[in-house]
Amino acid sequence: MALVDEIEEIAKRRGFFWLSQEIYGGVSGFYDYGPLGALLKQNIEKLIKEHYLQEEKCLMIEAPTLTGIDPWVASGHVESFTDMTIECGKCGEAYRADHLVEEHLKVKTEGKQANEIQDMIETNKIKCPKCSGILSKVYDYNLMFKTYIGPGKTKLEAALRPETAQTTYMPFKRLFEIGRKKLPLGVMQIGKSFRNEISPRKALVRLREFTQAEIQFFVNPKEKNEWDISKVKDVEALVLTKQDQKKDGKPKKMAISDLVGKRLTNRMVAYFLAVSLLLYKKMGLDAKKLRLRQHKDNERSFYSSDTWDVEFMSEKYGRIELVGVADRTDYDLKRHQELSKQSMEVSVDGEKFIPHVIEIAYGIDRPLLCILESCIRQDGDRTYFSFPPSVAPYQAAVFPLVNKDGLPEKACEIYGMLRKKFLCLYDVSGSIGKLYYRQDEAGTAYCITVDYDTLKDNTATIRERDTKKQVRVFVKNLAGIIEKLTNGEINFEDAGKAIK
Ligand code: GLY
Repeated sequence: MALVDEIEEIAKRRGFFWLSQEIYGGVSGFYDYGPLGALLKQNIEKLIKEHYLQEEKCLMIEAPTLTGIDPWVASGHVESFTDMTIECGKCGEAYRADHLVEEHLKVKTEGKQANEIQDMIETNKIKCPKCSGILSKVYDYNLMFKTYIGPGKTKLEAALRPETAQTTYMPFKRLFEIGRKKLPLGVMQIGKSFRNEISPRKALVRLREFTQAEIQFFVNPKEKNEWDISKVKDVEALVLTKQDQKKDGKPKKMAISDLVGKRLTNRMVAYFLAVSLLLYKKMGLDAKKLRLRQHKDNERSFYSSDTWDVEFMSEKYGRIELVGVADRTDYDLKRHQELSKQSMEVSVDGEKFIPHVIEIAYGIDRPLLCILESCIRQDGDRTYFSFPPSVAPYQAAVFPLVNKDGLPEKACEIYGMLRKKFLCLYDVSGSIGKLYYRQDEAGTAYCITVDYDTLKDNTATIRERDTKKQVRVFVKNLAGIIEKLTNGEINFEDAGKAIK
């Protein structure tokens, strides 16, 4: 079995993630994050949050996940956020109609309308794959979870948000005031969104409840091409443009400056694609599996004039979209203005206009799966995750060499000292080899062992997860050294020099 095929099993066993509501048989599209997964997920969010708050000077907000239906009428989701669906008249199973045709006839159905898909199903006598029953007519199925707020006749029709974006657009005018009426204005939200997918699958790739980190940059439309890309202009990537998808379908290696120079997209979109690539590398994603792909005209969302994804080419799950960077123009603000009758116009430097929006929409669950795939390693009978230390659920674990002779007491003292600085574990159950392997499988970056010499000279060993190399350092220097190693300020060989 290939190593990547073991990820879901390890994830379950070690506590990264598992199907939610397991004791009732599980509900597809919903996952629990366990003790390691919840921490790993927080570290992914932290990297994104730190970048956009500190480097891009964004504001951060948090809005409810449940809203009245009006925002979704305005945004177009009530009308257009649909998938073509078909149901079996006998067993009741529902399918994405276009996917069913693709799988059955081995053809592409991109851009085909519901009536054309219906014709293909009837002409080719496609039946229910599960029970061979007769299939219904193709219909548009809306992916929003709908509900009501409050009781009785005055109850409000409502929906769980299918994206955070609209809940950032609604208070735009207030945010513009708070941001001292300046553009560009970047606003970030990290939170849950919900989509009632027809067939959620591939573990965390297609979920019904998922976490997004979405950043909306409100800009003067002229500024989209005035954005400073100098910090990232040399970042290189495999790039698949919409033109190349029509031609040979092959991605080409390009620098971010080429995307702009060849006018393949605007400077803002190009910049945030580069930023995202750099963030994914920092998270530990395998750079060789990342690429940029532009959406074709017939696949782009209804609100966008240009969308690009950073994709991860997974060995197990195929192509995974990690972030979408979209030029949403003034579509959303205009629609909210029309329906709410509240002006979304701003006046900046004597110019009146409705701002355009460049959106950077990160999924948080998918990169977690891609980090696991990128970092899983086998070394003899040892399986470990080589997470970058700053992304690892735990930075360090402390053990006594043996569970006697005062070593556990000394180890606990060191653990107490270290856990004030970073997330750290103490373990004593098992042989030292077992203790190391347990932490390796959790991806803990450094293991600290307290032995008899520790009692004599107040030194302890630090073991590096990937190389299994050890250095001996003074206990008083441990916290500083682990911190520097985690931040990449020193390398492991240099860590041992502190003893001399
Ligand atoms: N807000 C864009 C998306 O959810 O895909």
